[in-house]
Amino acid sequence: MPAVGGIGPGGGKEYPGNLTPFVTVTCIVAAMGGLIFGYDIGISGGVTSMDPFLKKFFMSVYRKKHNDKTTNQYCQYDSQTLTMFTSSLYLAALLSSLVASTITRKFGRKLSMLFGGLLFLIGALINGFAQAIWMLIVGRILLGFGIGFANQSVPLYLSEMAPYKYRGALNIGFQLSITVGILVANVLNYFFAKIKGGWGWRLSLGGAMVPALIITIGSLVLPDTPNSMIERGDHEKARQQLRKVRGVEDIDEEFNDLIAASEESKKVEHPWRNLLQHKYRPHLTMAIMIPFFQQFTGINVIMFYAPVLFGSIGFKDDSALMSAVITGVVNVAATVVSIYGVDKWGRRALFLEGGAQMIICQAVVAAAIGAKFGIDGNPGDLPKWYAIVVVMFICIYVAGFAWSWGPLGWLVPSEIFPLEIRSAAQSINVSVNMLFTFFVAQIFLTMLCHMKFGLFIFFGFFVVIMTIFIYFFLPETKGIPIEEMGKVWKAHPYWSKFVENDDYGHEVELNKGAVKNV
Ligand code: BGC
Repeated sequence: MPAVGGIGPGGGKEYPGNLTPFVTVTCIVAAMGGLIFGYDIGISGGVTSMDPFLKKFFMSVYRKKHNDKTTNQYCQYDSQTLTMFTSSLYLAALLSSLVASTITRKFGRKLSMLFGGLLFLIGALINGFAQAIWMLIVGRILLGFGIGFANQSVPLYLSEMAPYKYRGALNIGFQLSITVGILVANVLNYFFAKIKGGWGWRLSLGGAMVPALIITIGSLVLPDTPNSMIERGDHEKARQQLRKVRGVEDIDEEFNDLIAASEESKKVEHPWRNLLQHKYRPHLTMAIMIPFFQQFTGINVIMFYAPVLFGSIGFKDDSALMSAVITGVVNVAATVVSIYGVDKWGRRALFLEGGAQMIICQAVVAAAIGAKFGIDGNPGDLPKWYAIVVVMFICIYVAGFAWSWGPLGWLVPSEIFPLEIRSAAQSINVSVNMLFTFFVAQIFLTMLCHMKFGLFIFFGFFVVIMTIFIYFFLPETKGIPIEEMGKVWKAHPYWSKFVENDDYGHEVELNKGAVKNV
């Protein structure tokens, strides 16, 4: 069959440039922007299961939790108020990522990161000192605004800064920070929940100020990307910056291509409306489908509700929290694997392998839970080996996500958009991601209650579809300079229909000869 993977690595051009200490440190600092997102994902689930927190703000939920003596394990946590509190943040993030598009484009990636850090900082402060429910909600909205700004700008910053051969690894620093944030938050929740006097939740929520300060200070000291300087007309500074970032004198070819990309981008007056043009159909499709599918892997069922889920399948309080920590460790470790492999094995290989791994685990977990809990959700006594098998397969599933859809869900969109639509398309990516994170968070407990173990089959079905989608529609992007990416669409058997040969005029001739079978 014709190649669906696209053109070969290198794609024709080889800009000189090294993995200099300067670019490495810069990218590590910027990647820490993922900490705020991760910390929040990890902290909210734990806090909403702390009794003193529930008693203070959600009395009815507290009463239900303690008076409900139902044996149906599938339904005991179903509470709309509480999920609304958790997931309201994602709606705020959705809105702010749209605003961030203009700021990132007109004023640079750094300013959006700064806004992200500051908004998150104020949100964390209000939450840590919250006395009334309105303070919690205002705080959460500010946290959401912060995340929208950070997730919109950090992945773009990383992909522009990195030398193209190491772009995957450096960009995945963002996802690594997300996973570290989740893990740290889970561990902190575990200890803070034990504080006598019941104010541990204040530390959990207020602790978000630490990652917020890291990104705020980081954004002040970081240099701007050459791409963004050129986009804002500062050519000379951009040339010097590119030299410094790449660690070589001879940057002319890359510099000229960046200028050409920027000229192209200046012709575009309405980046949003532009996204609808025929030639951007592949980009728009990916900006929508990748985040949608990322959330429909069902990963956040585990990230938000691991203690609840493990509790439902028979773990006692402490061991349920402990299992959440174990999945957190697996999440971090598997992300490191993808940092190692993404520029060697490519994005497609990781997507396809990770997808297959998740499908198998979802089928096993559905069968295991179905066999014991049946339709009425009443398991009787659960043997220890059973719990171990379920946790093991959940861990293998998390590992599959953590080296595929997790990091690639942020990396691939950040590297495929041409400069003229990059900022707007990235905002679409973030908002779709947030919309479906909201959706999954909001309906999961109800789904668990009604679909029971079928829930795992539901998400498994989506993983099948997305794996097929990647196989046929996503070209390989490893080793292609970011401003050269247009050629992967031109060489793709399906997407080439949408891209004319003179689109992305600044690029070298399409290298059809480089098309290879996968
Ligand atoms: C996703 C989050 C998820 C996290 C888990 C991220 O890439 O966007 O929704 O919670 O990975 O590590």
